[in-house]
Amino acid sequence: MDSNMSVEKSFPPLNLPFRHNFLCGQIYPPLIDGNEIHRTSNYDLRDDDVILVTYPKSGTLWVQQILKCLYEKNGVCKDSRISSRNNLPQAVPWIELLDIEEFNAMTSPRVMTTHETYNNIAWRPGTGAKYIYLSRNPRDVAVSYYHHISGYRAYEYDEALPQFVELFTKGKLPYGSWFAHTLDYIENLNNMNIFYLDYESLHLNFEKIVMKLNRFLGLRHLSNEDLESIKERCSFTRMKVDSNANMSRFEHRRKPNSADFLRKGHVGDWENHLTKEECSSLDRVLDSYFSKTTKKFIYNL
Ligand code: A3P
Repeated sequence: MDSNMSVEKSFPPLNLPFRHNFLCGQIYPPLIDGNEIHRTSNYDLRDDDVILVTYPKSGTLWVQQILKCLYEKNGVCKDSRISSRNNLPQAVPWIELLDIEEFNAMTSPRVMTTHETYNNIAWRPGTGAKYIYLSRNPRDVAVSYYHHISGYRAYEYDEALPQFVELFTKGKLPYGSWFAHTLDYIENLNNMNIFYLDYESLHLNFEKIVMKLNRFLGLRHLSNEDLESIKERCSFTRMKVDSNANMSRFEHRRKPNSADFLRKGHVGDWENHLTKEECSSLDRVLDSYFSKTTKKFIYNL
């Protein structure tokens, strides 16, 4: 797309250049329209709930697939969705897309996904529920998110990457600011029962992280063969052709010629897309958020 092309178009309620909903003080994708889970935001958690939390485009689908493999290897909970459903978005569902009856009726252990911010997530001190927070370099998230929002018809978004990077730095996107989302969870790692992992380390040390995650979840020990088969099932090339894992059933929602959901799966693809100035502006926002925290954070470049 021509980067100088600017289209005068804005949508309510926030006059943003893409369709969206605004609920509980938060921008949501157009297909999330505020079911009971949003209205109550105090739905009952169970001690054996497991919730994968990510900012969009951090590799959510990849970790959903890892979780499915781990629970299948563990061989329990035949009635739970993670075992009984083959399609990933069904097996490890987004909390924001469940209605409250469905949520309450799910057989334990409920392994679920959410992009909710720290302020909007159902969490109470003392809950035994376990959380997994997945992070990714914001430069790669920005590029991946641009392709995502440009690719889905429902957003009706047709601006170019430089304009999108501006929205990203201002946090004017579904689920808000990457910087605030990440900082809030990182600052609460010890309060909540959170297993933190990042996309880049998963690329580097897949087996080690998967074994740690397996221990955190309290699942049975994995053999080397188990690990090898999980690595194969979760590889980018395998997931890309696996109709249960590649989101191809939502293909009709995408514009013709848009990038696949499993687009590139690389660390550092930002180098092919972002200018020096765009990187600097992302770094400035990163510094302004993370200079106040004492937590060591790997994206301080
Ligand atoms: P790219 O757009 O950079 O390719 P999410 O699931 O949170 O929407 O994240 C999607 C991003 O994760 C996409 O990034 C996608 O390619 C990448 N991804 C999905 N499965 C992957 C895998 N098995 N290995 C590496 N990256 C994967």
